[in-house]
Amino acid sequence: MAIKGKIAVACDHGGFQLKGAVIAHLREIGYEVKDFGTYTPESCDYPDFAVPACDAVASGKCAAGILVCGTGVGMSICANKIDGIRAAVTTEPFSAEFTRRHNDSNVLCLGQRVIAEEMALHLVDIFLGTDFEGGRHSRRLEKIAALEKR
Ligand code: RB5
Repeated sequence: MAIKGKIAVACDHGGFQLKGAVIAHLREIGYEVKDFGTYTPESCDYPDFAVPACDAVASGKCAAGILVCGTGVGMSICANKIDGIRAAVTTEPFSAEFTRRHNDSNVLCLGQRVIAEEMALHLVDIFLGTDFEGGRHSRRLEKIAALEKR
């Protein structure tokens, strides 16, 4: 796998079931996982779980993050507010591959109400298995990082 190290995982109630499947899959393919919750299917607020998971990625404690909510969108909006996080919602393989190759995304967001579990796990494999290309894309990421200082 291109991404090595511990994976931070979090969800809200809208992604609770898929988060369980993602964690089981990650462990099966040899990853250490830090589960930031939520730990019950009761209604909750996704920022409460996205932020600690993304903090662990931004600080380097975790190598990458996987966030699950109903659509993946709320989680991605929240994650992208955190300095150092480049989060992408993906629903199909091409974007999961290219958000690694071109954006060096470090957080994958998935929507339990949008995609089937089989697709979600396939996207996880692609995301974790793809390297950043660097080169001209690094210059673009530097411009994105500069936005954090505006
Ligand atoms: C919760 O109902 C839902 O809004 C949440 O899981 C997510 O889809 C938000 O973007």
